[in-house]
Amino acid sequence: MKLLITGGAGFIGSAVVRQAVAQGHDVINLDALTYAACLDNVASVANSPQYTFVRADIRDRTALDTVFATHAPDAVMHLAAESHVDRSIDGPGTFIDTNITGTYTLLEAARSYWTQGGRPDSFRFHHISTDEVFGSLGPTGMFTETTPYDPRSPYSASKAASDHLVRAWGETYGLPVVLSNCSNNYGPFHFPEKLVPVVILNALAGKPIPIYGEGLNIRDWLYVEDHADALLLVLQKGRVGRSYNIGGENEATNIDLVRKICAILDEKRPGPAPYGDLITYVTDRPGHDARYAIDASRIRDELGWQPSVTLEQGLQKTVQWYLDNESWWRALQSRDGVGQRLGVQG
Ligand SMILES: NC(=O)c1ccc[n+]([C@@H]2O[C@H](COP(=O)([O-])OP(=O)(O)OC[C@H]3O[C@@H](n4cnc5c(N)ncnc54)[C@H](O)[C@@H]3O)[C@@H](O)[C@H]2O)c1
Repeated sequence: MKLLITGGAGFIGSAVVRQAVAQGHDVINLDALTYAACLDNVASVANSPQYTFVRADIRDRTALDTVFATHAPDAVMHLAAESHVDRSIDGPGTFIDTNITGTYTLLEAARSYWTQGGRPDSFRFHHISTDEVFGSLGPTGMFTETTPYDPRSPYSASKAASDHLVRAWGETYGLPVVLSNCSNNYGPFHFPEKLVPVVILNALAGKPIPIYGEGLNIRDWLYVEDHADALLLVLQKGRVGRSYNIGGENEATNIDLVRKICAILDEKRPGPAPYGDLITYVTDRPGHDARYAIDASRIRDELGWQPSVTLEQGLQKTVQWYLDNESWWRALQSRDGVGQRLGVQG
């Protein structure tokens, strides 16, 4: 297939680009190259004849029309977004612009292209979203595809709005859409402002490892390559108009996750003292969701997907990747806001 992948220079998008090329697809990677992007993430496929990069903004309708007309994709995988909850607390406007207006603009460009092409049933618009749209769980229960939306941060509210737009374009215009909502990802090429790389890089630098609140918030963690695998499956086998929850069935409190990473580092790169000694509790994120947990039975039962690694195995691979790729993360540490505490105002 010929895939137009938005946000392919980011963390998850780049994993999808690499995997799609490896599976034999042609890929057009459309990315505006914001602070969160890094073209090194796709360096391994950059010279492939199957790969094309276009620098464009999903809010730019003219640029999008040109991309559709020039490349004639069979499907869109839409990952471009503002993705950091803490930044959404400090500056929600960009999240509204990119995640809502950008998704609307992309939907309209896709609809126009699809209509002009005779409305082929085989076309797909796959919208990639997050489990954060479902809000916060108590100690029990899991998010299913029918859990009511209850977003609680500017980030998750903007993603929820984009999910609604995509469903509406499916229902109203018949655009063949498919959606997926995934839990927290981790793995190689994770931008150094997110929890897992912050822990690894602060530990290696001998700096305090910040834990928000009491560290008891629970997340369901999924290795990014497993997410990319699931996304390509949903695109090709998912039922039109349907959404699929994707998760690792790997629930952990933040403090347990951080302790696991510290223990792996203690083995792989022993420091003068155990890295866990650097753990420091800091003011909680305002509106910090208590627990996310994904019921992934639909994608497992309908499409036969399951994660290939456990949390322990994925963390081992991830820590090793950061140890082996210092030049990648060093270059990103000087980017705007990286290493600073963001999102404290409530
Ligand atoms: N990271 C997670 O744990 C997670 C979990 C579930 C879902 N998601 C979703 O997956 C998608 C990708 O997440 P990520 O963590 O890889 O994000 P990321 O921040 O690493 O990458 C986002 C990419 O989108 C690009 N982008 C941003 N605004 C753009 C615009 N206006 N036009 C074109 N490109 C633009 C950026 O340059 C960047 O390359 C997002 O939609 C996110 O909501 C993320």
